[in-house]
Amino acid sequence: MTAINIALDGPAAAGKSTIAKRVAAALSMIYVDTGAMYRAITYYYLNHQDTFTDFKSLIEHINLQLTYDETKGQRVIVNDEDVTDFLRSNEVTDHVSYVASQGEVRTYLVETQQQLAKNKGIVMDGRDIGTTVLPDAEVKVYMVASVEERAARRLKDNQERGITSSLEQLKADIAERDAYDMNREISPLVKAQDAIEIDTTGMTIESVTQKIIELAHKVLSN
Ligand code: C5P
Repeated sequence: MTAINIALDGPAAAGKSTIAKRVAAALSMIYVDTGAMYRAITYYYLNHQDTFTDFKSLIEHINLQLTYDETKGQRVIVNDEDVTDFLRSNEVTDHVSYVASQGEVRTYLVETQQQLAKNKGIVMDGRDIGTTVLPDAEVKVYMVASVEERAARRLKDNQERGITSSLEQLKADIAERDAYDMNREISPLVKAQDAIEIDTTGMTIESVTQKIIELAHKVLSN
């Protein structure tokens, strides 16, 4: 286990989770996908919209836990139900930024994420990890890529998952979600002052992974 935390932020579909998984495996660290946590609350919200009148009561009825499966990786459990397989649907994606802009939701998840990372050894990806969740993370990276490339990557991902989408629609959705995430009041998506920006447009997964591993080694050797 490597006794540092790595924060990986950036806009939608910038390849954060693919890279984070590889970095975590190479450094014997644990990968935490915080987007999946916001998606899990969104999934619950969509299924219980008639039950709760506000996000405060919704959060009071949620118990979210992460477990790890040898082959399937991180699993998200909400009130004892494994909801992981439902989190990438278009319906969840369309509503997640709205749910993630709610103060009660952010307070609950930021606290849960800080607990997960308190003993170090975590690679965490999201939108506010370097700024709010882990401002003391030893390595902070802000990953960007052109909208065209991000949409093309997401199209491939969706095809592999059996989700129907078009390139033009994905480009529009990604741009819209970024604008929402960057302009929300609480913890908007922004590069932390001390984060290293990597533009992954045209870079291979291996070279981005290697670059972050090098940053971690540099910190560890100091
Ligand atoms: O990373 P992913 O695309 O799965 O994230 C889904 C959404 O969750 C983001 O568009 C954003 O609205 C929200 N999110 C967030 N803070 C994080 C991670 C995700 O607000 N740390």
